[in-house]
Amino acid sequence: SFAPRVFSGIQPSGGLTLGNYLGAIRRFVEMQDEGGYECIYCMVDLHAMTVWQDPAALTRNTRELCAGFIASGIDPEKAVLFNQSQVPEHVQLAWIFNTVARMGWMGRMTQWKDKAGKNAENASLGLFAYPALMAADILVYHATHVPVGEDQRQHLELTRDIALKFNYDYETEFFPITETVTEGAATRVMSLRDGSKKMSKSDPSDASRINMTDDADAIAKKIRKARTDPDPLPETLDGLEGRPEARNLINIYAALSDISAERAIANVAGQQFSQFKPMLAELAVEKMAPISNEMARLMEQPDEIDAILARGAERARGIAEPILKETYRIVGL
Ligand code: ADP
Ligand code: NA
Repeated sequence: SFAPRVFSGIQPSGGLTLGNYLGAIRRFVEMQDEGGYECIYCMVDLHAMTVWQDPAALTRNTRELCAGFIASGIDPEKAVLFNQSQVPEHVQLAWIFNTVARMGWMGRMTQWKDKAGKNAENASLGLFAYPALMAADILVYHATHVPVGEDQRQHLELTRDIALKFNYDYETEFFPITETVTEGAATRVMSLRDGSKKMSKSDPSDASRINMTDDADAIAKKIRKARTDPDPLPETLDGLEGRPEARNLINIYAALSDISAERAIANVAGQQFSQFKPMLAELAVEKMAPISNEMARLMEQPDEIDAILARGAERARGIAEPILKETYRIVGL
């Protein structure tokens, strides 16, 4: 009984990567263009703050993320594109969800354990509560579908648990049970230097990732220098077992060419990396360099970006406000 509605967010914590693009943003664009969904895409600046952000950098990174969305094909007329902190209903619903979620649920989140590390005593309270705010981001729009990379699956299970407990505790069916959408060959893009680590903006090695702001030369160089093994590429995916770096490059190749990983390996079976890498580098440049050029162009017009985000926030509030109001009524506030 809920209208099909897509919500997803990305943190403006600086340095969008090819992982963000293939695992998330590209999927956002597809869902926007498929039609049949109302799409809501958010720069989750309040999430970014759960670890220290320099104020000026946070402002800049938020604009850059917006530029990244638009350069990748998000149309702010079609999709609702906005900044989390400009829609206060997210935080207002998050407080209600802080009272619904259990300490034990939050403590089991692997991202909390990874990010807080051995020094949990010194992590921010916000970092611990992050998944409850994320549930509010989604449910304040009654979103039914959330496209994300693999690493967000557990948080989305928690979102469902919060919706279920709220619905049960208040004897209602007010919140939808959201579906996680992870699809394609690149739901988990790995580091170019170490196949056991996720490609991430927080990796200290710049060579480990392709940034969405990298120019053609940088993209090609990083692919050519990506870590691999000495063996030629096998006939099938089974042959990539135990070769995570090779598997990662095949996944990237598949995702950039919009084919399955099975098709991808069949296309390049028997090739040496000395043959495969230049082809992949050319493909990555062809797909990614126009996006980084367009991002640079958009970043020269920060006022226009701010205006787009302000309009998006207004549209978002139009949806979120009545849902928050009804939530408050249900709980007796
Ligand atoms: P990051 O993980 O880089 O800090 P976010 O947490 O804001 O970025 O994630 C934004 C989106 O990008 C999420 O949907 C996440 O699953 C996806 N994502 C991030 N890194 C990768 C990756 N290496 N491969 C695939 N998807 C990714
Ligand atoms: Na992430």
